[in-house]
Amino acid sequence: MNERIRVAVFASGGGSNFQALQSALAADDDAPAEVVLCISNNPDPGVFQRARAAGIETLRLSPRMFGEEAEYERALLRALEERRVGMIVLAGYMRQLPPGVVNVYRRRILNIHPALLPRHGGRGMFGAHVHEAVIAAGDAESGVTVHLVDEEYDTGPIIAQERVPVLPGDTPEVLAARVLEAEHRLYPAAVMDWARKLRTGEEPAVREGRNMP
Ligand code: GRF
Repeated sequence: MNERIRVAVFASGGGSNFQALQSALAADDDAPAEVVLCISNNPDPGVFQRARAAGIETLRLSPRMFGEEAEYERALLRALEERRVGMIVLAGYMRQLPPGVVNVYRRRILNIHPALLPRHGGRGMFGAHVHEAVIAAGDAESGVTVHLVDEEYDTGPIIAQERVPVLPGDTPEVLAARVLEAEHRLYPAAVMDWARKLRTGEEPAVREGRNMP
């Protein structure tokens, strides 16, 4: 039996996706991965309370704590290596990972985006902005995208998507809640699927290249 892949979840806020992932992994005796660390750029985000309640180590690392970007990058890499982290899951993480981290963990970093990429992604497209843009565009459907992380925002290869209808009269808040429900289903499943593939060394079938136009 292979060892479980050790996962670090990066999150900036409330952490409902952290919770969904952690609960799903903890409930599955055959889970291919386990969450061992929760990293945030914020001093005491809601996700840290969830992590502490689950007995998972929390760590704040922010560029503001370091004189230069390179030191921050080194500190992140050291923290991940010390804990033998094999996979990074971004769950509402409001910063870009430093390029050195993306490079070391290439194809082992997942992100979730609350829309159907390549629509409504990129810099500035987060939280309510995404759902406002979907409604303003008159889209009949939105959804959830899980993708690998590269050096840009929301451009890495897509590995899973789930569609969610946009209903007449939807406000951004109502649509966000419907999408979030799908996130909580899709993300744990996609993370476990990807972890299984990483464990078996299977080359996962992803569309190469950038998903953004
Ligand atoms: C989610 O909508 C996710 O798609 C986005 O940020 C939000 C995080 O929510 N990247 P939570 O902190 O997991 O509740």
